[in-house]
Amino acid sequence: MKNILIIGAMQEEIDPLIASGNFEKKDADIFPYYVGSTDEYRLIVTVSRIGKVAMASCVQHFITLVKCAPEFDEHEIDLIINMGVAGAISNKLRQGDLVVADRLCQHDMDVVGLGYEIGLNPDFESVYFDVNKKIIEKVKSVHDAMDTEYELHIGTIASGDQFISSHEKKVFIEETFGAYACEMEGAALAQVAFSNGVDFLVIRAISDLADGEAPMSYVDFKPKAIVNLTQLVEKYIGG
Ligand code: ADE
Repeated sequence: MKNILIIGAMQEEIDPLIASGNFEKKDADIFPYYVGSTDEYRLIVTVSRIGKVAMASCVQHFITLVKCAPEFDEHEIDLIINMGVAGAISNKLRQGDLVVADRLCQHDMDVVGLGYEIGLNPDFESVYFDVNKKIIEKVKSVHDAMDTEYELHIGTIASGDQFISSHEKKVFIEETFGAYACEMEGAALAQVAFSNGVDFLVIRAISDLADGEAPMSYVDFKPKAIVNLTQLVEKYIGG
């Protein structure tokens, strides 16, 4: 059976998914998780907590756990999905719309002082981590078959350890990285998954427009955004 690891940065980003299925909770000192299954997949669902460091350590922890723990029969993780909310960077996006990353970057990675391109970690060849095109195609066809008022956008997601709520930062992220949306974990997941040779999918619902109104609209709209997103993720995994 194939293993899919699903990670939200916050408990409320995975709660609707857990509530809709038959999951068993596994307690652990670090990164408690839930295990469930569909006809095709074993699902491991967890919370990383906020930011790139938390996400990177969470992803590496589960890649190693699934390889080593007897309960997983020495299986590998076949796909890692990050679901959660994001701020809109492109003005094509409305609150509630869904964004699937076709590539991810870190908007706060800056080694320009040593002569590197903005956003480039010198340990890697590119500013961007690309998502497997087949995975994106599958999300798109699942969304096309759904009856929803919210659009699915496919584009760059930029991550950083910052909640974006100013016009200047938003313009910087759009102009420098061509990003559609911003959040605080996806690119960390992409980097660790890439380094381990594991496929990944980052899919986010827009909770706010990453502007001066963002702190208020984020809080108000987050629960609704997560419900839309959960429907799409459930259909993707066939649960
Ligand atoms: N997640 C949701 N909205 C965000 C924003 N405006 N900045 C960073 N992460 C977010």
